[in-house]
Order: sequence, then structure tokens, then C-alpha cells
Amino acid sequence: MDATLRDRLRALRVFGGELPRFDTDATPAAPLPLLVDWLNEALDAGVSQPHAMSLATTGADGIPDNRTLLLKDVDAEAVWFASLSSGPKGREIAANPHAALLLYWREQGRQVRIVGRVEEGPREVSEADFLARSPNARASAIAGEQSEPVVDRDARVEAAREKIAAEPEYVPAEWVAYRVIPDSVEFWQAERERDQVRLRYLRDAATGGWSRDILWP
Ligand SMILES: Cc1cc2nc3c(=O)[nH]c(=O)nc-3n(C[C@H](O)[C@H](O)[C@H](O)COP(=O)(O)O)c2cc1C
Repeated sequence: MDATLRDRLRALRVFGGELPRFDTDATPAAPLPLLVDWLNEALDAGVSQPHAMSLATTGADGIPDNRTLLLKDVDAEAVWFASLSSGPKGREIAANPHAALLLYWREQGRQVRIVGRVEEGPREVSEADFLARSPNARASAIAGEQSEPVVDRDARVEAAREKIAAEPEYVPAEWVAYRVIPDSVEFWQAERERDQVRLRYLRDAATGGWSRDILWP
């Protein structure tokens, strides 16, 4: 008899091979430098799409939504992504400027959870981000209304391509580089002997400093 899907899922091994060690005693006082270290380690280790992350938002109705985006940068204060402010996620962020980000690097058994406040970055950062996209990606972003049903696809894409070719510096006002300023960041590491290690940083609202806790799995 064929194995059921349930049996097949249960038989899967979640983490095989070598996993990095996570020495929580050697971590910095603030989370973003550690995120930068983990990103560099993921890049060095050849993790597939280490910059693919999920962004969860809620709209004014309180209903959650989630989607994959590309992480664009991490600086001293924030984690950056870029999107259209006119689409569903942009409207949700405008209604409730709080979001959760999730990065998962399966090859390393690592997960990073970030919760924070979302702000629009400076206009020049949005413009530079859009102009760094390929002409096709720029045309695709302006051809129609993000997440609306497609109508007149060929004509709209052709018109968008012509616009980008005629105006190579064009940046739609709706293209926004957003930054998430974290209030909570949790680093999760699968470990063979100890199962898993969780380190959570919480921002102290009064001082702006960070507290650190090891969490039960
Ligand atoms: C790997 C991957 C990367 C993506 N990167 C982006 C991105 O950087 N910006 C973006 O707006 N959408 C990106 N998308 C598409 C989004 O997941 C989503 O379909 C789109 O932004 C519409 O989301 P919304 O309807 O919630 O606004 C990406 C999808 C995948 C699978």
C-alpha cells in the first residue's frame, strides 16, 4: 500500500548534515549586528536565497496576511525591503505600521523572527532601489495594479516597456523602500545534541536598549 502523505511527511528528516554552533555568550548587545553576521554566514555557506523573507502584516480589519519579499539591506537601525505602497501590503502597512519578518535558512537550521515598526525610507533610497532593477522588472512593476486581476496583459506590458525605454530614470511614486525598526528579534538555531537554541532580544521602550533572554524551545 502506498504511504499516506502523513506517513511521508512524518518520515522526513528535518535537519541533516553539519549545523553551525550558536554560542549565545558571544553575541552582541544589539540584534542587528548579529543578523548581519548570520546573513554573511548564510551567504558564505551558499544558503539558497538567504535574502528571501516573509513579511506578515495586518490591515485595519485585524486579519493577517503574509508574503515572501527580498531583504534589501540591514543597517544599524533597520531591516529594509521594497514594494509598491499602492498594493495590499502597502495599504495594510499604512493602516497598521507594524509587521513581522521571518527568515529561514534550512541548510543551517536557522530562523530569525523580527517584529517591529514599519516606516517609509527616504525617497532617494526608494528611487535607487527601483532603478537598480532590470528594465523588465521595472516594466512589470508599473504595468498593472499589484495584486489586482490581470486585464489587457500584452498591451499593458508593452506600454510599460516602452515607458521604461523612453524614460530610463522613471520611478513610480508608489515604489517605496520600507524599513522595519525592530522591537523584538529572535535567533533560533537547531543543534544536534541540544535540539535547539533560542535567543530573543527585546527593546526596552524607555531606554531604547536591548535585553536578551534564552527561551525554552
Ligand atoms: C522569492 C520572492 C521574492 C519576492 N520579492 C518581492 C519584493 O522584493 N517586493 C515585492 O513587492 N514583491 C515580491 N515578491 C512577490 C510578493 O510575494 C507578493 O506576491 C507581492 O508583493 C504582492 O503582495 P501583496 O498582495 O501582499 O501586496 C516576491 C515573491 C517571491 C516568491
